Amino acid sequence: MSGSLSDNLTLRRAVRDHRSVLQQAMRAHRADDLDTAEQLYREVLDLHAAQPDALHYLGVLCHQRGRSDEAVEFVRTALKITPRHPDAHNNLGNIHKECGRPAEAEACYRRALECAPDHHNALGNLAVVLEVQSRLDEAFEAYGGLLQKAPDEARGHYLMGLFLRNHAQNMEHLEQAAECFGRAFERDGRNLRALEALGVTLYALKRHDEARRVYRDWLEREPDNPVPRHMLAACGGADAPPRAADAYVRELFDGFADSFDEQLLKNLDYRAPQVLVDALGGVLGVPAGALDVLDAGCGTGLCAPLLRPYARRLAGVDLSGGMVEKARVRGGYDALDVAELTGYLQSHRGAWDLVVSADTLVYFGELQEALVAASAALRPGGWLGFTLEAMDEDADRVELTPSGRYRHTRRYVERVLAAAGFGDVRIVADALRREAGQAVAGWVVLARRPGRGATSSEGEAA
Ligand SMILES: C[S@@+](CC[C@H](N)C(=O)[O-])C[C@H]1O[C@@H](n2cnc3c(N)ncnc32)[C@H](O)[C@@H]1O
Repeated sequence: MSGSLSDNLTLRRAVRDHRSVLQQAMRAHRADDLDTAEQLYREVLDLHAAQPDALHYLGVLCHQRGRSDEAVEFVRTALKITPRHPDAHNNLGNIHKECGRPAEAEACYRRALECAPDHHNALGNLAVVLEVQSRLDEAFEAYGGLLQKAPDEARGHYLMGLFLRNHAQNMEHLEQAAECFGRAFERDGRNLRALEALGVTLYALKRHDEARRVYRDWLEREPDNPVPRHMLAACGGADAPPRAADAYVRELFDGFADSFDEQLLKNLDYRAPQVLVDALGGVLGVPAGALDVLDAGCGTGLCAPLLRPYARRLAGVDLSGGMVEKARVRGGYDALDVAELTGYLQSHRGAWDLVVSADTLVYFGELQEALVAASAALRPGGWLGFTLEAMDEDADRVELTPSGRYRHTRRYVERVLAAAGFGDVRIVADALRREAGQAVAGWVVLARRPGRGATSSEGEAA
């Protein structure tokens, strides 16, 4: 009998201990101290192997650290113990969504909603993955449901605004999108993405003065914020910089990375990585895993799986730490760096056989310095491939557009490539994304550093 009493006491102490360790783990997790949090979650599981919260949150943490397969296993194990836990279903959905598995994500969000029909987060996420799967009627209904259930929350208005703008078929849809963005910002004054979206949409509606006023007011409230500064220039309210300021790029893309929903939405019909790598396939031939490849402006890593077959070594560089974190989670790179592109290229002379830059040089007006740096960073015979937004004019010029990105004419691109010493230039027009319901025209550009190297085909002259 005395044995069982001491067993009971030990058991009670273990339960008490594991609860307090779990609280500490969750505090560390919230404070972004992932090392401590992981260690503490594992301690909880040593004390109590089937503790569902520790399993669930350790899963979320593993995903944050790029170990998404392990993450799925932990959350699934948690759900075997507490099968009606809506947050765990929702978080499992988020892991699938961020790993590019929208159908699996959808099933998880539906289960979360079965457990808790008023789970607003799960409903918004469900709408997003329906939209990503091009099931637009169902997505519209889900966004509408979210607005009905949570009219005071900014997120539903913002997401509905993006939906209407992404799929706008007429000006009325854009007007409605602008109203949604305005309502989102009214409800949450920290939702600056809604404010930016409002400015861009007002400009698209040709309400130019109102768009400029949005940015001027914002700049008055936050004189150091690079976003309204850049966007005011983009609307013709100030001089355009030669390229988007580093602070603007960081602010913009760190914000994207944090809200992956919006990132996915913006990527609807986004084809730049695929189109660019297809074009490169035409000059590189069958992938042999033999090249040193740089993904320049890698973002969340969408190019990685397409470039991997060509790469002996695949590196990625991007100015936004938030985007690089997402690329790390997605995986596929041998190295990832947070750095400004031109400086990075300048400090890696002769390092690459292939430099690829999808939808990144659109944040550069003047391309000269970056292209000279890219040429020096390539080995002789190495290829550069990039996409741009196209200005369909005969002139030799570049302009900053109200979207905040630059457009270049073909003549401009040809001149700066030649000045940077590139040969074998191929420029093809293609639609690389849709915006406000319209295809955005782009250039797919390939150019080669003269000389003979790993990318030369058999029998090719030096
Ligand atoms: C639209 S995203 C494209 C990302 C990725 N290449 C893709 O196709 O999904 C543009 C990326 O360029 C990066 N970027 C813009 N200007 C940059 C610069 N000067 N140096 C490094 N990265 C830059 C941004 O941080 C962002 O991640």
